[in-house]
Amino acid sequence: MTVLLPLCLSVEINREGLPYTGLNTTDWETGVLPPLTDMWELNDFQIAAKNVLAARWYASYRTAALDQVTYQANLNIWKKIRLNGFTFRDVSNVNLNTTILGYNFTVPFFIAPAAYAGHTNESAELSLARSAGKLGALYVPSIESSKTLQQIADAGFSNQTMFHQEYVWSNRTLLIEQLRQIEAAGYKAIFLTVDNTGVNGIRVQAMRQTGQLDSDSGHSASFTLEALAEIRNLTTLPIVPKGIKTAADAKTCLDLGFPAIYVSNHGGRVLDGVPTSVEILLDIRRQYPEVFEQMEVYADGGVRSANHVIALLALGAKAVGLGRSPIWANIYGEEGVDRMLMLLQVELQTSLQLMGEADVQNVVGNTSYINTKQVEVDYFGVN
Ligand SMILES: Cc1cc2nc3c(=O)[nH]c(=O)nc-3n(C[C@H](O)[C@H](O)[C@H](O)COP(=O)(O)O)c2cc1C
Repeated sequence: MTVLLPLCLSVEINREGLPYTGLNTTDWETGVLPPLTDMWELNDFQIAAKNVLAARWYASYRTAALDQVTYQANLNIWKKIRLNGFTFRDVSNVNLNTTILGYNFTVPFFIAPAAYAGHTNESAELSLARSAGKLGALYVPSIESSKTLQQIADAGFSNQTMFHQEYVWSNRTLLIEQLRQIEAAGYKAIFLTVDNTGVNGIRVQAMRQTGQLDSDSGHSASFTLEALAEIRNLTTLPIVPKGIKTAADAKTCLDLGFPAIYVSNHGGRVLDGVPTSVEILLDIRRQYPEVFEQMEVYADGGVRSANHVIALLALGAKAVGLGRSPIWANIYGEEGVDRMLMLLQVELQTSLQLMGEADVQNVVGNTSYINTKQVEVDYFGVN
């Protein structure tokens, strides 16, 4: 006797503890791109990517170092922060425009460097460049991209400003050649990632897929202060050290005269157990408040909504980076990245309006907009 089972495409996806906002996946089919119109907040794109990407590629983007303590902390720190919203103010015109290193952008968030976008969509970094360009947002491609840095530059609009990320390769000839290419292709600044000191983090979740214990990054393990100073002579572009995760290193960069620093724990992918950007910014504020007066500070890590952007801005960040979210959105190509950026822009405009602030510039370094006492008690032992 043949038993006919009802055809059931219903998908149950492990949400990995992401906030529940009603995303219904029961009509989705495993391995098939869900309708873009199901995407209403940034976490939705991660769930969609998990549904459609091969397990190996999902893990390669999602992975973080060791027990992922820092990765989880990045996502959870926001629960300890409260926003202060004020009434009795004119918020009929909300301004999100900002400058980053003197260049104009329409939003204070940017697409951070993330290696090999090509496993999400064949357009890879080209869609990221175009979506950022359409919105007027900053995009900073990784030096380990699926497309060449020239292809990415060409994909952008003629008036679009992009910066480029670089690693400190132990192969100096390679480093010099790449810096030359970045300059020649018209990128306006370099985010120099300084936190992979010779090795990548041990990214267990990805290793389970590749079957390889591979942490050799090709990066210099002897990148001292002298080497940092010297690298500045290799390019005329401004250099922004990325991956600053202690107040002491922030102060060092200030003393060395860098125009900006980028506070980041690399999305929890490098040294597990390091603090979140919220905690690092608070520490810099305590120990070296002059950092925020004398240089620009950017930050990232676990940013999945505009309220997270606002928290980092209020702690003194001038601009806030998005790592994984653009990758997840790129499963839909340019259209998906457009939607993800648009949703975040609308969230930011809405939250600012509800907070009684019409100009995002007034949030930067303005701690009257946030209450971080709970973080401070946990992190410093006192507030
Ligand atoms: C898949 C992936 C690749 C990354 N590749 C780079 C890279 O090539 N260079 C770099 O400086 N940072 C890289 N990062 C770190 C991001 O620039 C950023 O600091 C981090 O992802 C922010 O955290 P979030 O993913 O929670 O937004 C990468 C992150 C991810 C998730």
